[in-house]
Amino acid sequence: MAAAPPVSGPRRNSIRQLLDKALDLTIAPGYTAAGYRLRGLSWEDAIAGGFVRGGVALVTGASSGLGQATCEGLAVAGARVHMLVRNRERGERAREQIVERLGERGVRPELRLELCDLAEPRSIREFASRFTERERELTVLVNNAGVLPPERVRTKEGFELTFATNVVGPFLLTNLLLPALRRGAPSRVVTVTSGGMYAAGLDVDDLQLERRDYAGTRFYAHTKRVQVALTELWAERERGHGIAFFAMHPGWADTPGLARSLPRFHRLLKPALRDAHQGADTIVWLATVAKPPGDSGELWQDRRVRPKHRLPRTREGAAERERLWSELSRLVESPGPEPGAPGK
Ligand SMILES: NC(=O)c1ccc[n+]([C@@H]2O[C@H](COP(=O)([O-])OP(=O)(O)OC[C@H]3O[C@@H](n4cnc5c(N)ncnc54)[C@H](OP(=O)(O)O)[C@@H]3O)[C@@H](O)[C@H]2O)c1
Repeated sequence: MAAAPPVSGPRRNSIRQLLDKALDLTIAPGYTAAGYRLRGLSWEDAIAGGFVRGGVALVTGASSGLGQATCEGLAVAGARVHMLVRNRERGERAREQIVERLGERGVRPELRLELCDLAEPRSIREFASRFTERERELTVLVNNAGVLPPERVRTKEGFELTFATNVVGPFLLTNLLLPALRRGAPSRVVTVTSGGMYAAGLDVDDLQLERRDYAGTRFYAHTKRVQVALTELWAERERGHGIAFFAMHPGWADTPGLARSLPRFHRLLKPALRDAHQGADTIVWLATVAKPPGDSGELWQDRRVRPKHRLPRTREGAAERERLWSELSRLVESPGPEPGAPGK
């Protein structure tokens, strides 16, 4: 019997596109390691782009999971990487692990630890001023740090902990670093959200969900929805300054954070989960690819733009997003740039 003819390039691409669409529609399989493989993605491709080569990157949540993998990827791609951590010891361990791994491929990464507690605005302000004294220009900021606490916790400065870490932290840090990002333009900000946000709509009247009983996954999903809305707002407000803003969700990856926050889910799905590098793939790709094929302000998963909503009830309008900006600015007393304000 004659062998089947090989599948040609364009045909292989259209098969990939159909498969990608099917995985996106069925949601769960696309979030697993199988989804990553079926989409034909690989870490070596993710780190191949030259955008960040010779540039400066800052990655939050660098001591663990996706953040650590992201630092590794950006270092191989040629960036000087600042690893933002809240605990020096854990940060040092993560840095050493990267150095050891990359040593095996003959790469000597440029990695520097930065200490900051993203749940505490005072710590963020101090960090941002230290950082911008040393680094005038920033090429890539990755807002990756995130938590899903088992119970309601108040921070020293009075915020609910999930909200403080996942929303106040990236909002304030990004706004304080906008001048450095403008000076480093073209530059990029990648914010790591979660597929969990598909279940949540914005509640601008009760941003910290103080009127509700605590439920970790619901509070987490709400903060992740806020991150997607913020990405859209930054994209609008910073238009013309050369900074592109992306939200991405990583699928389901086997990280210390997932094991700690959702132990049952983690145990059940462990064999199907992505590893940390597969989870970090689209973060690194967005930070390194010459030109992402999509606009600033979009949501990405597995290197493609995805819908921001899957349920009509979660949709918000532009006016609600603007209220979100005002309310967050009031909360952190950092109004950020006016829409269309000229850059420096
Ligand atoms: N893994 C998944 O399947 C998955 C799915 C969807 C979304 N995500 C998102 O991906 C991101 C990374 O998560 P991960 O799975 O890699 O979890 P992880 O292993 O727990 O990593 C989270 C990182 O955030 C840091 N962090 C937490 N609170 C902080 C604070 N107040 N200040 C500074 N750093 C802080 C942690 O530092 P310590 O080491 O000091 O705790 C850690 O480095 C999160 O935003 C998460 O929501 C993950």
